[in-house]
Amino acid sequence: MLTLKVNASKNYDIILSDNLSQFSLMASHVNGSNVLIVTDDNVNALYGGALDNYFTGKNVFTYVLPHGEENKNGENYFKIINFLAENGFTRNDAVVTFGGGVVGDIVAFVASTYMRGITLIAVPTTLLSAVDSSVGGKTGIDLPSGKNLCGTFYQPNAVYINVNFLKTLPNREVVSGMGEVIKYAFLSDTVNSELISKGVTKELIYNCLQIKANVVNNDEFENGLRMILNLGHTVGHAIESLSGYNYSHGECVAKGINYAIKLSKKVLNLSDNVTTKLYGVLNLYNFDLTCNFTAKELVNQIKKDKKSTGDSVNFVLVEDVAKPVVKKISYTELENLL
Ligand SMILES: NC(=O)c1ccc[n+]([C@@H]2O[C@H](COP(=O)([O-])OP(=O)(O)OC[C@H]3O[C@@H](n4cnc5c(N)ncnc54)[C@H](O)[C@@H]3O)[C@@H](O)[C@H]2O)c1
Ligand SMILES: [Zn+2]
Repeated sequence: MLTLKVNASKNYDIILSDNLSQFSLMASHVNGSNVLIVTDDNVNALYGGALDNYFTGKNVFTYVLPHGEENKNGENYFKIINFLAENGFTRNDAVVTFGGGVVGDIVAFVASTYMRGITLIAVPTTLLSAVDSSVGGKTGIDLPSGKNLCGTFYQPNAVYINVNFLKTLPNREVVSGMGEVIKYAFLSDTVNSELISKGVTKELIYNCLQIKANVVNNDEFENGLRMILNLGHTVGHAIESLSGYNYSHGECVAKGINYAIKLSKKVLNLSDNVTTKLYGVLNLYNFDLTCNFTAKELVNQIKKDKKSTGDSVNFVLVEDVAKPVVKKISYTELENLL
C-alpha cells in the first residue's frame, strides 16, 4: 500500500492499494449512520456491492447512474441530492464515488452542496480518474453551453485507489487515461516515456498523483501554478463540447496538447529538435490528433470556458518536455495561431 498526503483546505490521504481489505480504512471517515455509494451501470455490473461490507454497522445505500458524459448534468445532480434528502442523510453521513471521472465530478458536487458539505470518499476506477480527477477538489456538472460550467472546489476526505479495478477497463479508456498521463510528462520528468510505455502500473499512478498533489498543495484554487494542469485542456474542452462528447476526455486532451505544441512552436520559437521530442511523448499511444473544427469555432467555444477572462485566455505552452509556461493570449491572436 502506498500513501500520498494532500494538504489543502482539507488534509487527506490518497491510498494506492491492490488489496481490497485495505478499503476498511475508509470506514473511519464516516461519523454518521448512512453511506451512499454512487456508481454507474458499467461499474455496478462489474463491482456492484464490492464496497458495501466495509461499512460495518452503517446503512449502505447504492445509487446507479447511467454511464457517459451526457449524464453529468443538473437533472442527475438533483436526483442524487433528493435521494439523500428522502433517505434522511445528515451532515455526518457520507457519499462514496465509485467509478470514473463522470461519477466522481457529479458526486463530489453533490457532496459539496448537500447541507453545505458532507463527507466524500473517492474510489476512482478509471485510469483518468485515478491519476487526475479524484484528487484536487474540482467538482461539477456540464451545462448545455459547455463543460464543467457549474461546480465548486471541494476536497474529498479520502481517496482509495485499487489498481485491480482498473484491469477491466476497455482499451479505449486506458488510452483516454493516457492522454491525461501524457499531460503530466509535459509538466515533470518524474513521468517519462519509459514509465508511460510500461502501461498502467502503480508507479505510474503514484508519480502522476505526486505531481497533482504537489500542485494542489501549493495552489488549491488555481490562482497561479495550478493553471499548468490545464495543459491541452483549453482547446481540448472546446473540442469535447463542439463534438457533443463524441470523443473521450483523454482523447480531447491529446488533441489539445497537439495544439499546445503547435502554438508553442510559433510563440516560443521551439527548435525542430524540441518539437520532435515533444511529439515523441505525445505519440506514445498513437492518438488521433485530427480536429474537424475551424479556428473560429474553437475560439468561440473557448470564450465560454470558465478559464477565459475578458478578451484573452491563459494558455499553457511548453518550452520543452517537463517545462510548461502559461501565456496570456488574446482571442484574436489565438484565432490566427490555431
Ligand atoms: N475534477 C477534475 O479535476 C477532473 C479532471 C479530469 C477529468 N475530469 C472529468 O472526468 C470525466 C472523464 O472521466 P473518465 O474518463 O473516468 O470517464 P467516465 O467516468 O465516463 O468512465 C469511462 C467509462 O469507463 C467505464 N468504467 C469505469 N470504471 C471501469 C472499470 N473499472 N472497468 C470497466 N469500465 C469502467 C465507465 O462506465 C465509462 O463508460 C470528464 O467529465 C472530465 O471532465 C475531471
Ligand atoms: Zn483533464
